[in-house]
Amino acid sequence: MQIRVESLSHIYAEGMPFETVALEDINFTIESGSLTGIIGHTGSGKSTLMMHISGLIKPSSGRVYAGGTQIGLKTKESREAARKIGIVFQYPEYQLFEETVLKDVSFGPKNFGFSPQECEEKAKKALELVGIDPDEKGKFSPFELSGGEKRRVAIAGVLATEPEVLILDEPTAGLDPRGHREILKIIEQIRRLHKPTILLVSHNMDDIAAMADQVLVIDGGRLAMDGTAAEVFARREELASMGLGLPSTSSLLSALAARGMEIRTDIFDEDEAAREIARALRQD
Ligand SMILES: Nc1ncnc2c1ncn2[C@@H]1O[C@H](COP(=O)(O)OP(=O)(O)O)[C@@H](O)[C@H]1O
Ligand SMILES: [Mg+2]
Repeated sequence: MQIRVESLSHIYAEGMPFETVALEDINFTIESGSLTGIIGHTGSGKSTLMMHISGLIKPSSGRVYAGGTQIGLKTKESREAARKIGIVFQYPEYQLFEETVLKDVSFGPKNFGFSPQECEEKAKKALELVGIDPDEKGKFSPFELSGGEKRRVAIAGVLATEPEVLILDEPTAGLDPRGHREILKIIEQIRRLHKPTILLVSHNMDDIAAMADQVLVIDGGRLAMDGTAAEVFARREELASMGLGLPSTSSLLSALAARGMEIRTDIFDEDEAAREIARALRQD
């Protein structure tokens, strides 16, 4: 499902002393089935933008369209379009609340009016997708799980609703390297199996460079950049001024280039970067 954001602005506590302009005149289009990375300093407005795309909050001005239908209206079409958008919030494990893992993951489909049997089937499928055996851990309390497992159960809860647009707001934040890798594997699996449109908010530039078809950079509530990873990460100085770094490969290649080596800096794959360094060394 294509996503289009037009002239979107959001002001928190408008007209109050603590009024905050969180988003200002944002415009972009995301193609159906693509993965878009959203980067920006803490407080830049990323989560506010994601809540607008899932129709959870109303714009102060502007519009969000999903598959051509405007989101956030009280019409049947608008509500149906919003149901196809699933959002995994930051630290979603704090929102697990049911007695068992299976009940928690069934909550979404239950809300959508599926029969108990359908809910269970969808929940089991979603748990398998995130690498949790429903027969082994379905009856556990969510509180008996490890941190990484809780995060995966929370993600399964959104996957169980079979969203056409999947929003992941910092899904790897606070996880250890293994938990981080597991989440990346799940994202790749979902892409391969279901091809949803994915919006991934992350501070990890390596992940963004490896996975994103399109990258949006948010700075102080404004859309500062919109392009491919190569286009965005080529603007190193501007990113630095926003407190943002580069993927580790381009960081290394840029440091070598700064020392006078004639070398490409727009490479995000480690093997390819190694080959480029070897090539540049042979030329010296
Ligand atoms: N519920 C809220 N009420 C008032 N201000 C908020 C609220 N949520 C976020 N903000 C403010 O809006 C701005 C953007 O926040 P947020 O969208 O959470 O940014 P990010 O996800 O990039 O860290 C920040 O200045 C933040 O303090
Ligand atoms: Mg946020």
